[in-house]
Amino acid sequence: MVALTKRHTLFEWSAQAKVDPIPVARAKGIYFWTPEGKRYIDFNSQLMCVNIGHGDERVARAISEQAATLPYANPFMATEARARLGAKLAEIAPGDIDVFFFTNGGSEANENAIKVARLATGRHKILARYRSYHGATAGAMTLTGDPRRWANEPGISGVVHVLDPYHGIERGWDSAADALAALEEVIQLEGPQTIAAFILETVTGTNGILVPPDGYLQGVRDLCTRYGILMICDEVMSGFGRTGEWFAVNHWNVVPDIMTMAKGLTSAYVPLGAVGIRRPLAEHFQTNVFYSGLTYSSHPLACAAALATIDVYESDRLIENARRMGGVMRALMDDLQARHPSVGAARSIGLFGIVELVRDRRTRQPMAPFNGSSDEMVALGRFFREHGLYTFVRWHTFFTNPPLCITEAELREAFAIIDKGLEMTDRAVS
Ligand SMILES: Cc1ncc(COP(=O)(O)O)c(C=O)c1O
Repeated sequence: MVALTKRHTLFEWSAQAKVDPIPVARAKGIYFWTPEGKRYIDFNSQLMCVNIGHGDERVARAISEQAATLPYANPFMATEARARLGAKLAEIAPGDIDVFFFTNGGSEANENAIKVARLATGRHKILARYRSYHGATAGAMTLTGDPRRWANEPGISGVVHVLDPYHGIERGWDSAADALAALEEVIQLEGPQTIAAFILETVTGTNGILVPPDGYLQGVRDLCTRYGILMICDEVMSGFGRTGEWFAVNHWNVVPDIMTMAKGLTSAYVPLGAVGIRRPLAEHFQTNVFYSGLTYSSHPLACAAALATIDVYESDRLIENARRMGGVMRALMDDLQARHPSVGAARSIGLFGIVELVRDRRTRQPMAPFNGSSDEMVALGRFFREHGLYTFVRWHTFFTNPPLCITEAELREAFAIIDKGLEMTDRAVS
């Protein structure tokens, strides 16, 4: 399986000779298994997307029933699954985000958010932040601030990056007021009348689980309103219960003009993304053409999977569980930080967490350089894998993003492995 996959298919973001994929045969709840029967705790919900957990038969049944009835209808048609999903999302999305365009994933959702913003405002620039990932298609890649963009440049025109409130483990955080003043300065220097939108991950995902300082999101909302700039919140990773709320914006009671989503929308059982648009903004497209489309937009299988997934969040009270287990995880992370000198920072909101490792608690020099790795981080990744814990190890960090159905006993089982692994990185601390 591994040899054939490597021979005939490309793996993402990697030099192919270096990849060493885990073969996966089946999965259930928070676990998955190799064909030989080795069990892993999925402590990253795959790509922070299998939020309800693996192998839920209710979702599998909904997909199968839709496949038997109407697997596909083109996006000019109306289907029951599409109709019900639009109405359901309007119910759970914040404020008057009421109108949805369905895509195949998060990148396409952000591509279409750019289109909506440009078409509706008549302006062309988009502001985005450096510590961000918005997807791998041309526009979404250009919005992305992290080093994955570099090799894909030049991208689309008109994207301007701004600094985040966080400056890395050594330099730490700005106050909300300072971050907002820097943002407003960029807006003025660029010319507010040229800026269609500011896109930001509400809680930044792969670039560090960056929970904004209180007041920052409200301040961004105010600046956007003042300058007629649309606020786009990318909730592809932070949405659908990950942070202990349906959407991360709910923590700060902020309603963006546009909200993009994917991943947890179907818990990745079938690919689906969406652009949510506030009702007054969507009104623009009553008389103006929405110049966009996709053969698989509003795909019935994906819409049926999303409806069943949302039903699981509700009937199993998974958002509440994420909040409760998030409290347990927070305590376990605080405990790691207290006992392991290599833990420089441990952050989480709900079941969205990260640990940043350092070589020196005083200077906070990271255990691996920006956009790099180190022997210690490679060894830690290997240790997790050998001990049946799957998670992302990136630069000097690793993630703690389990499925939202996790129990306290399962969390403790995972943290026991992490605890042992950190004994290795502790030895590198001077
Ligand atoms: C915040 C965010 N936006 C957009 C994307 C892109 O989504 P997709 O890979 O489904 O195209 C991702 C993927 O990880 C993401 O984390």
